[in-house]
Amino acid sequence: MDGNGRWARRRGLPRTDGHTAGEETLATIVRAAAERNVGWLTVFGFSTENWVRPRTEVRHILSLHKKLFGRITELNDKNASIRWIGRPFDEPGALTPVFIQKAIKKAIADTAGNSGLVVTVAFDYGSRAELVRASQIALRSAEAITPDLLSANMYDPSVPPVDVVVRTSGEARISNFLLWQIAGAKVYFTERTWPDFNASELDAAIALVNSNI
Ligand code: FPP
Repeated sequence: MDGNGRWARRRGLPRTDGHTAGEETLATIVRAAAERNVGWLTVFGFSTENWVRPRTEVRHILSLHKKLFGRITELNDKNASIRWIGRPFDEPGALTPVFIQKAIKKAIADTAGNSGLVVTVAFDYGSRAELVRASQIALRSAEAITPDLLSANMYDPSVPPVDVVVRTSGEARISNFLLWQIAGAKVYFTERTWPDFNASELDAAIALVNSNI
């Protein structure tokens, strides 16, 4: 969800306003994805590298995650469930604060009965950390290392192979996100910043999945 900061700067607003707008956009896109019968939507909410941002910005992004994980009624109305991927809370070095842990656990429990769209939020997440952990577990298992064994040890093994990666804000590079799961994925690039992303852009990204490009 790149470009919250740029969206704010272009309007002469603080970066935090860009994140607030970004959270609203995410709520809109979750609704649009559910209406389009998308099965899985996985978003990069906060990375293992994002903790070094200024304290006020980190605090604001945390409060937005609390808000997002609190949107239980909306999610239930759309038959959507919430999941989370990231460094396990009890792992040395993991940084998810307890109030976010609680919000995550409650959102997961309160939406677990829904059978539609699965919204997975990556928080305190880094793909390389996920792969290192999966490799360590696989090595301890004394089984031969295979792609299936590594897949089974991702943070949430049920996250399926990705059909399309959306890269907003003119970013033309892949980040430290779902590197294992995006093998073979299409990549949808857009110049729009995340707060300006909308349902038509989502349609264009979905259309890419079935195109011959
Ligand atoms: C990327 O834009 C955004 C983030 C790292 C913050 C997390 C995302 C949001 C707050 C929007 C969705 C909300 C939730 C709660 C998941 P940037 O700050 O890197 O912007 P820039 O690239 O323009 O500087």
